Amino acid sequence: MTTMTRRTVITAGAAMAGVALHPTPLIAGDAAAAGEADSGTRTRMRLNVNGRLHEVDLDRRTTVLDALREELLLTGTKKGCDQGQCGACTVHIRGERVLACLTLAVAVQGQRIDTIESLSPPDGPLHPMQQAFIDQDAFQCGYCTPGQIMSALGCVKEGQAVSDDAIRESMSGNLCRCAAYPKIVAAIKQARGPLRTA
Ligand code: FES
Ligand code: FES
Repeated sequence: MTTMTRRTVITAGAAMAGVALHPTPLIAGDAAAAGEADSGTRTRMRLNVNGRLHEVDLDRRTTVLDALREELLLTGTKKGCDQGQCGACTVHIRGERVLACLTLAVAVQGQRIDTIESLSPPDGPLHPMQQAFIDQDAFQCGYCTPGQIMSALGCVKEGQAVSDDAIRESMSGNLCRCAAYPKIVAAIKQARGPLRTA
């Protein structure tokens, strides 16, 4: 029987139940429509995930989210709505926060994709943002947490973590059904100092 620890939740997200308006290189819905004429077409792709190159054979309509979870078995990135409304699938592509459920894998070949798994080694120290989420008790079920953490890093990096209101605005695309919002703001405020000086 697997023991679920708070570290498990923070590093890979809970295996339990979880809106961001981040830029997306190519909208999955557009390509799904475009792909109607040649459904089932598979393409060899090279995906650069967490510093490793992966050669994969995927349908051209496969989203980054499905490629991560189903092909590369990186299940820390969560599928909530699968239509760009909850933020659970937030990853970084070329250092920018992006919704993986709205981004086609074929469109980001070779571009650096970073997921929650990139933040800390399995037995190593947690990333300051991960530690802050634990210290501030910033989650309950944990399903939204990987997306919240990846988005929180974007919030700090973009210089938007300057006030509670600014953090809330910057994080407004990431929904939390457990309503941990006040503690998420507290976690970002805890982590922003160490991250700015890193
Ligand atoms: S925005 Fe909800 S899963 Fe992508
Ligand atoms: S959805 Fe449960 S902690 Fe956010």
